[in-house]
Amino acid sequence: MKKVLALFITIITISTSFATEGMWIPSLIDMFHSDMKTYGLNLSAEQIYSTNSSSLKDAVIQFNGGCTAEIVSDQGLILTNHHCGFDAIQKHSSLENDYLKNGFWAGSKQEELACPWLRVTFVKEIRDVTKDVFKGISDDMSDSEKNKIISKNIKALEKAENKGGSITAKIKPFSLGNEYFMLITEDFNDIRLVGAPPSAIGKYGGDTDNWVWPRHTGDFSVFRIYANGENKSAKHNEANVPFKPAHSLPVSVAPKQKGDFTMVYGFPGSTDQHYVSGKLAWIINKERPARIDMRNHSLNVIKPAMNADDLTRIQYSSKQARIANAWKKWIGQLKGLRELDALGKKRKFEEEYMAKAAERTEWKTKYYNVIGDLNKLQEEGGKYEFARSMFIEYFYVGPEFVKYSFEYYKLANSYEKLEAEGTLDKEVERLQSKSKGFYKNYNREVDHAIFNELTQLYIDYVDPELLPLGIKDTWQKQGDLIFEKSLIMNPEKMAAALEKSPKKAAKKLKKDPALKYATSIYMAFVNKVNAGYRAFADKEEKLMQTYVAGMLEMFPEKNFWADANSTMRITYGKIEGSAPYDGMKYTHYTTIDGIMRKHDESNPDFKLTSRFEELYEAKDFGNYMQDNELWVCFTASNHTTGGNSGSPVIDADGNLIGINFDRSWESTMSDFQFDERRCRNIAVDIRYVLWVIDKYGQAPHLVEEMNIIK
Ligand code: ARG
Ligand code: GLU
Repeated sequence: MKKVLALFITIITISTSFATEGMWIPSLIDMFHSDMKTYGLNLSAEQIYSTNSSSLKDAVIQFNGGCTAEIVSDQGLILTNHHCGFDAIQKHSSLENDYLKNGFWAGSKQEELACPWLRVTFVKEIRDVTKDVFKGISDDMSDSEKNKIISKNIKALEKAENKGGSITAKIKPFSLGNEYFMLITEDFNDIRLVGAPPSAIGKYGGDTDNWVWPRHTGDFSVFRIYANGENKSAKHNEANVPFKPAHSLPVSVAPKQKGDFTMVYGFPGSTDQHYVSGKLAWIINKERPARIDMRNHSLNVIKPAMNADDLTRIQYSSKQARIANAWKKWIGQLKGLRELDALGKKRKFEEEYMAKAAERTEWKTKYYNVIGDLNKLQEEGGKYEFARSMFIEYFYVGPEFVKYSFEYYKLANSYEKLEAEGTLDKEVERLQSKSKGFYKNYNREVDHAIFNELTQLYIDYVDPELLPLGIKDTWQKQGDLIFEKSLIMNPEKMAAALEKSPKKAAKKLKKDPALKYATSIYMAFVNKVNAGYRAFADKEEKLMQTYVAGMLEMFPEKNFWADANSTMRITYGKIEGSAPYDGMKYTHYTTIDGIMRKHDESNPDFKLTSRFEELYEAKDFGNYMQDNELWVCFTASNHTTGGNSGSPVIDADGNLIGINFDRSWESTMSDFQFDERRCRNIAVDIRYVLWVIDKYGQAPHLVEEMNIIK
């Protein structure tokens, strides 16, 4: 009877348990381990996170500071997304060796390509140091007194832990400064490219399918970590050897079912679940639409230029992907937030919050006004925040010569200082190599067109008093002069001038129209926008800390999770599709047949290689099939965000079953508000990855390196 009852209870909990919101801190595993078990997890807490013995955490690494990767062999072989390895693949590509187009497979370790600019980061320990950071703080202190003590405590704690060498300790704020954790990490710097599918697989569907389900992208690439003879972190060196990890993920080719447990272990970048209604309204109605508009215009220049010319395609593919990615995500987010009335929900919660605060005098003084204050602050300071967003779009994502020209500011304006310090040669060398990198991927016609489009918009959007003086009437002329006459825009002449006499070059640079223009943009931001923005942001930070402190204190029954902040997190759920709209249902997986159905040689996003078509016809899918189908992608209900790209999707037994790379269109709102009915992450099925490596790439030796579970 007991057994029957127990079974009954598990069935009930499984069938009623929805996808869970939250990105959990691995070292706090005891808080959520039992809930993970109700989803079907078979592992102990120690097998997931431990500092004493090897655990899953040792096989999960941050890839070059942004994405996530996982170790899949005892020889340091790692998997991440194609779009995470994209820069590296592109850097090794040329018209002769077009690895973007044709893919790349190292036949042996000797053929692996060094990427000395890449690094991966291991997490050794995540330690709650909130108490130590707050030591010596009392309620009657002013904010600046408190901040001083906090910074001092952080410095001392970090110093005590940092003993030199490759391991570093850093303390980061969590939950808007209500908690602090120490991250003890280790970087490895000798990373080599082992394999990448052609873009026709790794980026199949391109921007058309980006953020969209059903999806058919083979978004993966393969790298390897190298270490010195003692298996320690070391700079790139031919003599280094494959790294031996503490743990590598077994790879499961077993069949999968709807409802199976999934966990995503990785490094989500940032989420903003706690924005108050005023801020969210500002994002939805003002800030994001303007940024989307800016990117509409640059993409309308870049895309046709890429389609018209192969060199431009290679030069701009990475940049275009980056611009388009956030652009499309934002469009999806706004749609989702509006459809699900995110603002209404916020306002309702804010009423609840204030009602709760009114219940007790001490809460009332601390928390009752904080939401109103935040909303008012947004109204008053939003102007600066908006100008800052537009500056970021223009200076960092707009016409490229602007940011690039600004690199010459130091030489032009601090020549004497550089010379006196003895750093002149180094600076010249830096600029020479910067120029090579920049012009490898630069097309002046494209950039001039972007300049014309975006400058007009920038001026239209930003408050005139926050812009460079007179820019409205002079920008076009300045632009013509820049593209005709600037020394910076003439790489051969610039290089020769620097070679001949840095002193004379510095003098000429002072009058260079490109540098002048870039300086006017940058300085207008520094002098007119930044101070106002900083004052706003400091106040906001303080108020947000109080607001979230109120949540933690007044709603202890709610299971709060700390917003993503590029630190290691776990999110769990299960394989499932979704029904985002009335009359519409998404299945939880796609197959190779869907690739063929989308195939369209007239659309660059849906081209296939002839080799792929031949292999499809041959239908040699072997062990990688399930019920006569080869899965390509699947969706699950894990709460993920940017940075989770490349994250392992892990089954109930700790095996790798997929590589996370996206969310569906209807899910992107989860950065602000998670909705369990529609929010799904998208992973490429590991069996498709193996099939591509094994059959398409003819690199079965890589599969043999892995521990395959059947
Ligand atoms: N949307 C995914 C992410 O945010 C994939 C981006 C790369 N793919 C692309 N088509 N741009 O990273
Ligand atoms: N593609 C994203 C990344 O680069 C992950 C997708 C998401 O934002 O969920 O991290």
